[in-house]
Amino acid sequence: MESLAHSPSIVASDASRTGDTLQSSTVPLVRAGSMIVLQAQIRRALPSEAASLSALALRSKALWGYDAAFIEACRAPLTVDPEAIAKWPFYVLDEGDTITGFYGLSGQPPRGEIEFLFVEPDSVRSGRGRQLARHFLALARKLGFEELDVSADPFAEGFYVAMGATRITKVPSDAIPNRLIPRLRFSLLTDRVRAPSV
Ligand SMILES: CC(C)(COP(=O)(O)OP(=O)(O)OC[C@H]1O[C@@H](n2cnc3c(N)ncnc32)[C@H](O)[C@@H]1OP(=O)(O)O)[C@@H](O)C(=O)NCCC(=O)NCCS
Repeated sequence: MESLAHSPSIVASDASRTGDTLQSSTVPLVRAGSMIVLQAQIRRALPSEAASLSALALRSKALWGYDAAFIEACRAPLTVDPEAIAKWPFYVLDEGDTITGFYGLSGQPPRGEIEFLFVEPDSVRSGRGRQLARHFLALARKLGFEELDVSADPFAEGFYVAMGATRITKVPSDAIPNRLIPRLRFSLLTDRVRAPSV
């Protein structure tokens, strides 16, 4: 995902627009060990939100302490294309007056790709990433994906593993020369990813 290059070889899933009953759901969020219910929903992103989602992605990437040059190199790859939002499964965590996270998938079943997954820096480690992961895993299964891969930021690898993914290899980052990043896979037919804790 780090490069986020929207390869033309990846075929968009129109099923995400027509067959998706997961478009909106109230989201319980876990904070400090207790369950609270916010006025939150996971809903389809709007093409008009592309610029604000791009900015969110860049703020989120900076969470890991990268320097300004690194973050600038990520700007183009982390720019969300309004056409991609219209075409592919892009979902936001909408908490009423704020979008605190989003994800974007691409691919043609059975193989999909997590192109974007970002949570606002001041909202991390409070269950939002898990909620988004639950949502995209359920949606991906519904759309007929059997595998969902991600080229991840190294600092996010533990999150994906906690969600049930397995590292399959390392790949070069398209954003940063000579940087190898982990590539992980959710195998959606296995019990591990189906586990309720995910
Ligand atoms: C990766 C990211 C989406 C995770 O979202 P989050 O809301 O912080 O994750 P959650 O709070 O739902 O975490 C769920 C569980 O995953 C694990 N986890 C979360 N972040 C982790 C990390 N960075 N390293 C190791 N494990 C992690 C923990 O087990 C956590 O449970 P806990 O809070 O009870 O310990 C978020 O940190 C983020 O947006 N990071 C910056 C951008 C980024 O790197 N995105 C991914 C690009 S590939």
